Order: sequence, then structure tokens, then C-alpha cells
Amino acid sequence: MRFFLDTADVDAIASRYETGLIDGVTTNPTLILKSGRTQHDVIKELAERFPLMESISAEVVAETADEMIAQAETFYPLAPAVTIKVPCTVEGLKACKRLSDGGIKTNVTLVFSVAQACLAMKAGATYLSPFVGRLNDNSFSGVELIKAICGVQKEHRMETKILAASVREAHQASRCLLYGAHVLTLPIKTFDSMYNSVLTREGLDLFNRDYAEASLSNG
Ligand code: E4P
Repeated sequence: MRFFLDTADVDAIASRYETGLIDGVTTNPTLILKSGRTQHDVIKELAERFPLMESISAEVVAETADEMIAQAETFYPLAPAVTIKVPCTVEGLKACKRLSDGGIKTNVTLVFSVAQACLAMKAGATYLSPFVGRLNDNSFSGVELIKAICGVQKEHRMETKILAASVREAHQASRCLLYGAHVLTLPIKTFDSMYNSVLTREGLDLFNRDYAEASLSNG
């Protein structure tokens, strides 16, 4: 079970990394735009500050496989954890196959069907990212897609790890893991919501009060 954070906010990542529960980071062009920095700068800082991360994503944005690979070549020498994110298009899959054959970590992103996932596995992707929340936004069940993809992955003993993306709340996150996702990538808010429970807070308040009372009465 792996937890990645889906953000380019390096300070926010740092405070969650201290929990010892974070294995990687994903970003996308929208998250990079929000950060106001270049993707290269974000990747370099992530690699310097979190050398033990297993994966730091670098998304290529191009039409052809050759262009994607040319962009990827500017990213993967930055750190061994760099994972090249390619879109689930025919050119993206070609790029994935060539990069994977060359020993470069890859993540096929924007996956919305079992058929796309099968091709990404066949192309040797290290990870493939079904977008759970965006499917739900369009009246399809994101977690059912995770279940189906994980079924194929197991049945055919494929090495690709299923990385549930676009996960927006804790219940969805748990169900993705229940259905076999190997990795979750979560926005900071969703990660935090996994441990925040009003019942834990209330229980703790009661225990604290009782502990204080017991300490008083037992001298
Ligand atoms: C994954 O790699 C994407 O960055 C991300 O999970 C997309 O999430 P969104 O649909 O909430 O934008």
C-alpha cells in the first residue's frame, strides 16, 4: 500500500512527509500552474528534500511520442525517482513502451476505461492512473473501474501498479484500496481527512478529562 500526494506545494508535502506515510508525489500541468513555478524547479526541490520518495512525477505535454521522449529526457536525469507521466493516447503509449524498455519509470495518466488500462499494462507502464473523481463527475463509478482494472492486472499477473488518481474523499480512498489499488494519490485535504474523525476527537476529549480526574483523585 502506497500513499502519494497530488500537489506541487512542496511545503505542504514536507509537513505530511514527516508522518513517514508518504511514498511519492504526483503533479499535473494544472497543479504546476497553481504553484507558480516551473516543473523542473518543483521536481529538483522535491528530489533534494525527499530523497527517499519512490516516485516523483513529471508530466510531458506533447503530440507525438518523439516529442514526449525529448521532454522526458530533460526530466529523468534529475533524480532516480522521476516518473514520466504520459497521456493514455496512442502516442503516449508508444512513448511509454520506449521509455519502459529503456528502464525509465512511467505513469500512464488520464485512464478512463479497462481497455485503456490493458494497453498501458502491455506498454510496460510502471503505474497507470485511472481518474476516479472525474469518472464520478460524469456519472460513472470510479471505484468500480478500479476494481475491474485490478482484476485484469491480477488475472494476467501484470507488473504495472494501479495508482488511483483524482481521489477526493476518504471513503473513496479506502474503497480504492479495498478493490486492490496499489497506490493512492491524494490532494492534501483528502490525505488529512483520512485521519481526522470527529469520533476520535470526542473519544480523546473524554479520555483526557477522565485521566485528569483520575490523577486528581489518586493524588
Ligand atoms: C493525477 O495524477 C492527477 O494529478 C489528479 O489526481 C487529478 O485530480 P483531479 O481530477 O481532482 O484534478
